[in-house]
Amino acid sequence: MAAHATGPAPPDGGLEHPLPAPLTDADFLPVDPAKAEIGRLLFYDKILSGNRNISCGTCHHHDHAGTDGLSLGIGEGGTGVGPARSAGIGESRIAKRIPRNAQALWNLGHRDIRVLFHDGRLEVSDLYGNGFNSPAQEWLPQGLPDIVAAQALLPMASQFEMAGNTGENEVIGAVHDRVDYGWPILAKRVRTIPAYGAAFVAAFERIDAPAQVSIVEIATALSHFIRAEWRNHDSPFDRYLAGDAKALDPEQEAGMRLFYGEAGCAGCHSGPLLTDQRFRALGLPQFGPGRTRQWDPMVRDVGRMAESNRLEDAYRFRTPALRNVALTAPYGHNGAYPTLEGMVRHHLDPEGARAAWRPETARLPDAPWLAPIDFVVRDDRLETARHAAARDIDLPPRTEEEIAQIVAFLEALTGATAGTRPMGRPDTVPSGLPVD
Ligand code: HEC
Ligand code: HEC
Repeated sequence: MAAHATGPAPPDGGLEHPLPAPLTDADFLPVDPAKAEIGRLLFYDKILSGNRNISCGTCHHHDHAGTDGLSLGIGEGGTGVGPARSAGIGESRIAKRIPRNAQALWNLGHRDIRVLFHDGRLEVSDLYGNGFNSPAQEWLPQGLPDIVAAQALLPMASQFEMAGNTGENEVIGAVHDRVDYGWPILAKRVRTIPAYGAAFVAAFERIDAPAQVSIVEIATALSHFIRAEWRNHDSPFDRYLAGDAKALDPEQEAGMRLFYGEAGCAGCHSGPLLTDQRFRALGLPQFGPGRTRQWDPMVRDVGRMAESNRLEDAYRFRTPALRNVALTAPYGHNGAYPTLEGMVRHHLDPEGARAAWRPETARLPDAPWLAPIDFVVRDDRLETARHAAARDIDLPPRTEEEIAQIVAFLEALTGATAGTRPMGRPDTVPSGLPVD
């Protein structure tokens, strides 16, 4: 416990909510370096997409702290990375924006993670006998070691993210028949590339020949990479938690006292990752295609309700974890706010912030053919009223000085080594496809 050599644990007396214990290595799933290295290559290899034109890294890029810097991103069919990504041209131009903001992947290897996605549609669960409640239901394969591995399979089977449109390739054709039919095709693509085949045989005890590599080993490798690469907890706040009372400057410390005290942030952003992993409606400005439910005639995103089918979950989204949040703008499930200050002000006055919000605030790559639906939901009076009636937040107002202190604290959640990742983005991948 070397960190404690800097002094006694900082006082947290008088705070309404307890400070979390410092994170330690034991809080995270272990990493096998050989598996993580395969995962690093696969993460950036477009071989996992139906049309071989997009990788996980395209939307969760190293240059953008594990995200894409956009409010709503561009899936397969687009070109480029980050804010410069374009919506494509001609036949390959996108038919729909990705309906939600791409999360960064910081600290997802933590053992407490039990629910993923903004609406929690992937959860650790016994419901289907495969370990998870997911959109793939009973067709999610057996043997996935953890929730991050289970998650990795879903974008590969998603039309707009990675699989492509019907008629374009064999993967989406198979997925169209049943969600799990695309995975064996992708696994075969990977294992028949000699460098991958050999690496899997070397890294996985149960694999004696490339022909045995299934989508489960591919997902497992991606999980080991994500565990290793996006683990980061050496922020000033982490040093403070470990006993270094001087790690936060006075403004950051004042912000921390508000966060865990009378500002009430830790009522939801609690626990070791600063999230309770529960769902709340904050009433962010609505825009984009929405992750609409089947048969819903309206372009909207009802959030958790689409997963739980409970009316009281309408417009609720998962409380996000907050380490390195200063690096991962824009904010919220649809990236409505480009700054931390804007996001904090929204929490304090959702109605006022919504009224003041302007469509130009959203970071959306140009796609004039999608413009008619981008903001159509804002013109619907009844939907706007329903949305306004669903609020799970009511925080007391704060002074300008206090808002600045809270933002300073959020900035003190940035790891000292956040910008230097242990493995990094590969320059080339075994398929020979270009790396974004
Ligand atoms: C087209 C962009 C895109 C691609 C490609 C993509 N993702 Fe994502 N990812 C997203 C978006 C958007 C979300 C949030 C979706 C939601 O919550 O509804 C997300 C969510 C996630 C999450 C959940 C994070 C959390 O905190 O809940 C993980 C993990 C993840 N992606 C990993 C991957 C992996 C691994 C791949 C490649 C196999 C991949 N992604 C490919 C855009 C993308
Ligand atoms: C009632 C629960 C609740 C409280 C209290 C709360 N938050 Fe949040 N916070 C959320 C939820 C839920 C979201 C995501 C909302 C969405 O995407 O629609 C969020 C989003 C955020 C984000 C954006 C993170 C990202 O990656 O997009 C930040 C920053 C944030 N909160 C900081 C704070 C601060 C600072 C406070 C105290 C002033 C606070 N929160 C109080 C529930 C809460």
